[in-house]
Amino acid sequence: SNIESGRVKWASPSNIALIKYWGKREQQIPENPSISFTLSECKTITEVSFSKKEGNNFSFDVIFEGVKNEAFKPKIQTFFERIEPYMPFLRDYHFTIETSNTFPHSSGIASSASGMSALALCLMEIAKDLGIVEQDFNQKASFLARLGSGSACRSVEGPLVVWGENDTVSNSSNLFGVKYEAEVHSNFKNYRDTILLVDKGEKQVSSTVGHKLMFGHPFAQERFQQAHKNLADLDKVLQSGDLSEFNKIVESEALTLHAMMMTSMPYFILMKPNTLEIINKIWQFREETGSKVCFTLDAGANVHVLYPDAEADKVLDFIKTQLVAYCQNGHYICDTVGFGAEKL
Ligand code: PMV
Repeated sequence: SNIESGRVKWASPSNIALIKYWGKREQQIPENPSISFTLSECKTITEVSFSKKEGNNFSFDVIFEGVKNEAFKPKIQTFFERIEPYMPFLRDYHFTIETSNTFPHSSGIASSASGMSALALCLMEIAKDLGIVEQDFNQKASFLARLGSGSACRSVEGPLVVWGENDTVSNSSNLFGVKYEAEVHSNFKNYRDTILLVDKGEKQVSSTVGHKLMFGHPFAQERFQQAHKNLADLDKVLQSGDLSEFNKIVESEALTLHAMMMTSMPYFILMKPNTLEIINKIWQFREETGSKVCFTLDAGANVHVLYPDAEADKVLDFIKTQLVAYCQNGHYICDTVGFGAEKL
């Protein structure tokens, strides 16, 4: 291309899985299908400037929250290597990647999904600027994001995204996330996710290691089948609006994810005592009030509290009076289901 330089900018949200991805093959191919709510407040904003360079190496700088950052470079180097076959211009330019998150760093909220999808979208935008015309922009962005971090492929669109081949969602793929196209019941409109920050430390076991431990895991095959069944059931629930059934599936998925961790070899536990305190409080509150609030977990100790928009006042009051005490420094983040990445 004869384009010397340019600049692109995208914001991409985090997502929270309802059916969990845990276990993968080569090339970030998932062992089972997953589905997630796209979030709206928790996102990564990434700006990439590029300028023509000499030489045949990958050349890039990372500026994270205004400060030059070396720690992210190996991950991005690996990402560039993986996506080069699809992005043939990567060695022709120097890239300055300026990135920041709307949620606090080291909050224990995974930034890999929002971060990798934002970067993938910026690189797609550059491909477009360079005249490498891309059809199915979102699909290819999701494809690239997957090669950065599996769950990142579910952050390009919203409000619900399915990833992984299955018989329930006919256009599903192992290679990219697809928007869940069925008519979703109004009970799920503006669904809330309040993230309780129980432990903001670095997790002791990375998801890369966790996925690998599903190889030879005694319950792996059963688990992968269960995810297919839960997706089929959730598909019905999303259309019927049955929130009690929704809660059963979502909470079972969260606990199963952690059960897989506890039953792998080596075994590990990412939940903290306060994670369990919160879960018990939620169950008690539901029992006493008939609320449809539920929880889910990702690969950490933090608790995502999910509830319908119609219950927002009541559940937020419950969170403030009964759950915030279990959060590190009383910190929590209020989010709502969102609609995917945005070009800025
Ligand atoms: O995208 P990864 O490789 O960090 O895997 C994330 C897996 C979970 O967050 C635990 C579940 C999921 O489906 O998002």
